[in-house]
Amino acid sequence: MSDRTSKTWTGKSPSENPRTSPGPSVWNANLYDAKHDFVWKYGSDVVSLLAPQPGERILDLGCGTGHLSAQIVESGARVVGVDRSPEMIQAARQAYPKLKFEIADATDLKFDQEFDAVFSNAVLHWIHQPVRVIQGVRRALRPGGRFVAEFGGKGNVRKIKQALDETHKQVRPSTVGDVNPWYYPSVGEYATLLEENGFEVRFMTLFDRPTGLADGDAGLRNWIAMFCSAYLDGLDDKKRETFLRKVEDTLRPDLFRDGQWWADYRRLRLVAQA
Ligand code: BEZ
Repeated sequence: MSDRTSKTWTGKSPSENPRTSPGPSVWNANLYDAKHDFVWKYGSDVVSLLAPQPGERILDLGCGTGHLSAQIVESGARVVGVDRSPEMIQAARQAYPKLKFEIADATDLKFDQEFDAVFSNAVLHWIHQPVRVIQGVRRALRPGGRFVAEFGGKGNVRKIKQALDETHKQVRPSTVGDVNPWYYPSVGEYATLLEENGFEVRFMTLFDRPTGLADGDAGLRNWIAMFCSAYLDGLDDKKRETFLRKVEDTLRPDLFRDGQWWADYRRLRLVAQA
């Protein structure tokens, strides 16, 4: 099954603004759950950090297929899950028909002091307008409410991005442009934005989390196809294969171990109070 339903770089991804935050063209919810379920499985730790309480009202920002919303609800909290991708919201509603899910753009949140906490896992690195997100989150929270989030931080997938960029230059020198789908801030940068927009930072950390990709030898190319297929846009099958082989050859000594690819993820994790 292919995850790529369009070849354009701009498009829909969880809670991103397609004009400024290029990501996968259209999220394939089935593939996301089947091959990339580590995204929400790792999110369980972030749910623990959220420590949801019975009766609390919680916004799950960029809820994807809804698994973490469902986990939060188990604590007795009430959850609204939002995502910019209609495909993800449809999948979430199907999987958890009793929960509330809505399509919403993280850069244009309309909530007004409705939540005790805003939770977000593995979403904010897709959005190149962090201030708009932070301001929307701040407005959505009651005074004293908390923002608990984890996403890619400074240096995330650095080795993979370098290999992609170098190969991009080699394989298609005439069309080289800057491909930068991601926003990976440092602790200092993001803490400053939070403080400038009405938050008190209670906890923030940047840590390496090498992440095993499913499917053995095909793991890296599946990941590229799912999360940054723009590097492959416009390549015929032969060039596509050449491109992927080069990236794999470059990264294999560093990122392939015991029959599995390991993405060099680095996470920024935080708790901030409104
Ligand atoms: C991440 O979760 O850090 C991530 C996911 C897809 C592409 C790049 C990074």
